[in-house]
Amino acid sequence: MPTDWEERYLAEDTPWNKDLPAPGLVDWSDRNPTPRGGSALVPGCGIGHDAHHLASSGYLTTALDLSPTAIGLAQEKYPGIANLHFREGDFLQNPPKEKFDLVFEHTLFCAIDLDRRQDYACSLKDSLKPGGLFLAIHFFIPREQEEPPFGTNLEEITDLFSPFLELREQWTPRNFPNREGEEQMFLWGMP
Ligand SMILES: C[S@@+](CC[C@H](N)C(=O)[O-])C[C@H]1O[C@@H](n2cnc3c(N)ncnc32)[C@H](O)[C@@H]1O
Repeated sequence: MPTDWEERYLAEDTPWNKDLPAPGLVDWSDRNPTPRGGSALVPGCGIGHDAHHLASSGYLTTALDLSPTAIGLAQEKYPGIANLHFREGDFLQNPPKEKFDLVFEHTLFCAIDLDRRQDYACSLKDSLKPGGLFLAIHFFIPREQEEPPFGTNLEEITDLFSPFLELREQWTPRNFPNREGEEQMFLWGMP
């Protein structure tokens, strides 16, 4: 049965929430200066720590989540930041109409059902500007699980994204303490 994300936030059953941006994102943004006027999208933003980090790095950041409670918590935690906009919405069914210089993926791809991954790829394609970047942290753990996180592997990632993106880099990021050896990070570019 698909996860009821709103219910999980209401029940405060959110073990994925680390109250910090992903270490791999922090390291990448330290190494890669924000382009002037650059825009970023964080789909499945949860309580907004990654989105807040990108906004602090200078991106005009849109953070999207299906759960109204997650969006409310994010707005409470990070209020009144001019270049950070939280928005309730379904990335798979209604991706934002605008296009972005950067889409950052962290724990949405592994949260959706396996049969929605092609929809994810379509929404991603619609969300990137020509020359835009897709920066992703993926979980290289088994795909078949009782419940999320559902893992992935290089073959699946390549099949899904290489039809419209060019792989620029893959590396093992610094990770949160309970995720040793599970994460792979990818930087893709839209031609
Ligand atoms: C595992 S949580 C990760 C949240 C956040 N990225 C983090 O690391 O703390 C997955 C998030 O994706 C959101 N989500 C699930 N399906 C979604 C969809 N189709 N569109 C937008 N958000 C979605 C859920 O509400 C939840 O906040």
